[in-house]
Parts: sequence; C-alpha cells; structure tokens
Amino acid sequence: MFVFTLCLFLWSWLSSIHGLEFGYHNSMEMEQYLKDINRTLPDITHLHSIGQSVEGRELWVLILGQHPREHRTGIPEFKYVGNMHGNEAVGRVLLLQLIDYLTSRYLSDPLVTRLLNSSRVHILPSMNPDGFESSARECMYTKGRYNKNGVDLNRNFPDAFESTTDQKREKEVRAVMDWLQTESFVLSANLHGGAVVASYPYDNSNRGSELQGGLSISPDDDVFVHLAKTYSYSHSEMHSGNSCYDSQDFSHGITNGYHWYPLPGGMQDYNYVWAQCLELTLEISCCKYPPEAQLPGLWAANKPALLAYMQQVHLGVKGVVMDSYGKPVQNAVVEVAGRRNVCPFRTDRNGEYYRLLLPGNYTIKVTYPGHKTLTHTIRVPYGPDAFSALTHNVLLQHSDYSSTATQLPQSCTTPDLGIQESDSATLLPPSVFTALTLFLLQRLLMLS
Ligand SMILES: *[C@@H]1O[C@H](CO)[C@@H](O)[C@H](O)[C@H]1NC(C)=O
Ligand SMILES: *[C@@H]1O[C@H](CO)[C@@H](O)[C@H](O)[C@H]1NC(C)=O
Ligand SMILES: *[C@@H]1O[C@H](CO)[C@@H](O)[C@H](O)[C@H]1NC(C)=O
Ligand SMILES: [Zn+2]
Repeated sequence: MFVFTLCLFLWSWLSSIHGLEFGYHNSMEMEQYLKDINRTLPDITHLHSIGQSVEGRELWVLILGQHPREHRTGIPEFKYVGNMHGNEAVGRVLLLQLIDYLTSRYLSDPLVTRLLNSSRVHILPSMNPDGFESSARECMYTKGRYNKNGVDLNRNFPDAFESTTDQKREKEVRAVMDWLQTESFVLSANLHGGAVVASYPYDNSNRGSELQGGLSISPDDDVFVHLAKTYSYSHSEMHSGNSCYDSQDFSHGITNGYHWYPLPGGMQDYNYVWAQCLELTLEISCCKYPPEAQLPGLWAANKPALLAYMQQVHLGVKGVVMDSYGKPVQNAVVEVAGRRNVCPFRTDRNGEYYRLLLPGNYTIKVTYPGHKTLTHTIRVPYGPDAFSALTHNVLLQHSDYSSTATQLPQSCTTPDLGIQESDSATLLPPSVFTALTLFLLQRLLMLS
C-alpha cells in the first residue's frame, strides 16, 4: 500500500512538472489521470461518469470552469467528444492534452482564464473505450471502429430524416442522449480521424427542401459555415483543404456532411435537431491511429483551433424568458425570423435560451401559452470578442387570448427512441448476405 501511494505521489508530481506525456493512454491510465486532476483541482474541475460502455467501462466526463459543479445563468455549456470511433485515437489524445493545457494555465494564461471564466466546458475524451481497447494501430482500416456489439455509434442516433425505430440504441449512445437532457449544451464538436476537414450538418436528407445543389442545408447554415471555417483557419493546415495525399480537396477545409457522404443516425444532426446544440464533426488526422511520435505535431496543429472554437460558444444572443410575475419559464419558444428549425428552440428548465448568430440585425419571436407573443428586433454584435453573447432577457405579458403558442411537432418532444434493451431479443439476426455486403462496403470505404 505504501509503495503504491508513493508511486502515485511520484507519478502526479512528475506529471505536474512535465505535463501529460504525449502517448496513447489506455482506459485505466486515462481514468487515473482524470481522477488525479479532479482530486488536485476541485475548484475548477468536476469528474463524473455519464454511463458505461457495453463492456462496463465508465464514460468519464471532466467538467472545467469557474463553477464546474453546476450551471450558472448566462454561462453557456460547451462540449468536446472524442474517440466515438474507437480506432480514431487522436481526438482522445488531444482532448487529454487540452485538459492538461487548460488546467495548468488557468489564472496565468489570459485566454484560458477568460474561456474558463465565461463558459463551462465538458470533455468526454472517449465515447467508445471498448473500441479503443480492441483497436489495431493502423491508419486506414476499421478494427476497433465499432463498439463491443459491432455497431457504428455514429449511425445509431435517432435521425431527423428517416425513421430508425427498428434500431436498438447502444449503451454508449443512450448515455450521450441522456447526457444531452441533463445539460443545455450550446456548442459542441466531435473528434474523428481519417481525413482533415471540418464537417457540418446536415449529414442526412430526405430530399426535401433542405437539399440544395447536393448539400443538405440547415436553417443555421451561415453559422455552421462560420464555425467550420473558424476551426479550419485556426488550424495550421486544415484550411488548405488537401492535407491528406489520397483525399479529395475540401474548399476552405470544410464540408457539408451530406455532400461528403450521406449518413443516417449521426450524432451531429441529433445534437442540432433535438438538443439545440450546434455540433461539428472534426476530422483531425489523415492517419486514424498514427505513431506516437506524430502526436506533438498534431497537438500543435490543432491547439489554436480547439481554443478558438471554444470561444465561439459566445456567438449570438442569450437570455431568460420570464412570465408576467418575473418567474423564468421552461419551454417558451424562441424563434429567429427566417430560421425554421425542425424543432423550434425552447427555453430550458432555467428559463434560458441561447441562439448562436453571426453579427447583424435579427427579429426574434417569443411564444408561451397564456401570454402575448412578443417580437423584438435586436442588433447582435460579435460575441466571442467580449467572451459573452448579447444578453436579451424577455418579460412576457399575460393574455386572455392564449392558443397563439407554437405547437411543437410530436417528434420534437419524443424523438424515436429505438428498441429498448429488453426488446432486443425480438430482433432478427441480419442475413449472412447483408452482413457480408456490409463488411465489404466497410472495407471498401474505409470510413472516417
Ligand atoms: C472528485 O473529487 C471530489 C472532491 O475531491 C471527490 O469527492 C469525488 O469522489 C471525485 N470524483 C471522482 C470520480 O473521483
Ligand atoms: C476569473 O475568475 C477568477 C475566480 O473568480 C478571478 O480570480 C479572476 O480574476 C477572473 N479572471 C478573469 C480574466 O476574468
Ligand atoms: C442594424 O440596425 C441598426 C439600427 O438599429 C443600423 O444602424 C444598422 O445599419 C443595421 N445593420 C445591418 C447589418 O443591417
Ligand atoms: Zn470517425
């Protein structure tokens, strides 16, 4: 016991001097590192698990901020998710480096200090720890991509454009869906590998009006393009659009997800449509699982982009919607004229709304049952410069003529949740033919 304690002490002492070493840390090492950070920096970090993988590994999330344990009004919630595909290992490494960078520079580095004082940052370094543990250290192939049940987690979310009710939701996906209900995330990115490009929603389409010239365009397309370019131009080379020798050229280093390749059940569309959280899919390395010697260079290339992207959580407008008594109200609909979101943005349980918008003039409409509909025109500055979105609180007036409130589509309150764990026995096994076809397709496409 004494030797163990001594080792632990020496380890934390060494890592506090030299920072986190560049390398691939297995699940136990990662857990130890995160617990150590949580223990030594309780004022600015809070570690919790959002669930477990199929093989029972905890899905650890480290929260960083001035108030890591709870949400504060006006402080937006931001998140990074890594290693959703188990063999795409660079995101996992970079997110641990980011934790090291942020925690070691708080109160000494002005940018880090302002970021952590003005937002609450949630980091899930590995969404698929089982896949990671079973990965081969290869650049291109798919060993370790899937979870323990052989499922691609980035195809397993409810989809806005097609029904996926016949699908069983994997434990890792359910954990993330539940997580999205516990916090009102505003901005997010999900780190992958196998290409170098920032991909933005939509990833799917049902060939309705969203499909324009081969792109599946969301109502917040201008914001998404800006967010993707913020990453690609803050990255040392992503914006050049041709970082990987074998890939296609991406203009500005960004792409509409659907235009690249259509993808049902993806996590970024789910975040955007159902959780009111704008999410990008960041492809950050040509090689999915590169030699460790390349990790410092990958960190240097991505570090400014990871920080600049976090600062974008302050775009647009935020505020509290209150009823005529001044009490914050949940589920007031806050719409921006000209943006018909599949599911209208609503206030959360604290009565707060956050809308990421580029600088300009906007008309916002607030509806709530039993109250007059309010329409305001506001002038939105560039929030990231001030580390705060424009604050615009709304006080509603009671009205006897109710019924003007926007009706939410049924699917917005209950996205199709798929088959519950207990129903899974009724699923028919896929035919050998389907399995073989899928296998060959995966090998051919060598998906990112
Ligand atoms: C994090 O630290 C707190 C306070 O030191 C402790 O109570 C808690 O158990 C720690 N959490 C984990 C997951 O280790
Ligand atoms: C950040 O918050 C800390 C703790 O409240 C405070 O001491 C510090 O002055 C703040 N720094 C900035 C730049 O806001
Ligand atoms: C926004 O409105 C203000 C007046 O409130 C006006 O001066 C400004 O030019 C407008 N900006 C744009 C981009 O239309
Ligand atoms: Zn991937």
